[in-house]
Amino acid sequence: MNVTQAISTRRSVKRLTDPAPADDEVISLVEAAANAPDHGLLRPWRLILIRGGARHAVGDACARAAAGTSDVEERARAKPLRAPLLVSIVFCPQQHEKVPEWEQLAATAAMVHALELLLHDRGWGAIWRTGAGLDAPQIRRLLELPVEERLLGWLYVGTPLPAGGRVSRPAIDVSAKVSVLSGA
Ligand SMILES: Cc1cc2nc3c(=O)[nH]c(=O)nc-3n(C[C@H](O)[C@H](O)[C@H](O)COP(=O)(O)O)c2cc1C
Repeated sequence: MNVTQAISTRRSVKRLTDPAPADDEVISLVEAAANAPDHGLLRPWRLILIRGGARHAVGDACARAAAGTSDVEERARAKPLRAPLLVSIVFCPQQHEKVPEWEQLAATAAMVHALELLLHDRGWGAIWRTGAGLDAPQIRRLLELPVEERLLGWLYVGTPLPAGGRVSRPAIDVSAKVSVLSGA
């Protein structure tokens, strides 16, 4: 698969099952994704891999964070079980005289997209999921995030189920979004 094919055919996959890539494979893909453009080469992010029973701990934290009716709590509890691997995306902005925080956030998103493409190229399915509870103290405590770090969501990763579950996306007409500044 070349780059154009990878970018054009990647889709978020909602329905994922076992297996998921092993830690070694994830790390080698992250090594490649870390080549994404990054002003100052700050790599202002880190990833926490969550599998198996650890997903239940995340589910419990999500349920406590949701703190609503039992229905709402149970739905929140089940969400992390929708894929065998959750890659927690943690933003770690740094004070830098030339690289403001927004640029560091852009670099982090570029890395995550590169990782999604690499997973897709290997046949894995993935979807970046956020949700209301990302900043909840219950989740921050579980992931042991210091105050200067921020959870940007989870990349749910696994094997795409045959039934798909891919988010459909209509073709985009970008012609109105691209303009040319005429010279003087
Ligand atoms: C920062 C970010 C957060 C997202 N959060 C969610 C989410 O919480 N739930 C969800 O179903 N999809 C989420 N998505 C995936 C988008 O819905 C998906 O990328 C979009 O529908 C386009 O589909 P595609 O990725 O297949 O092109 C998120 C994507 C990004 C970039």
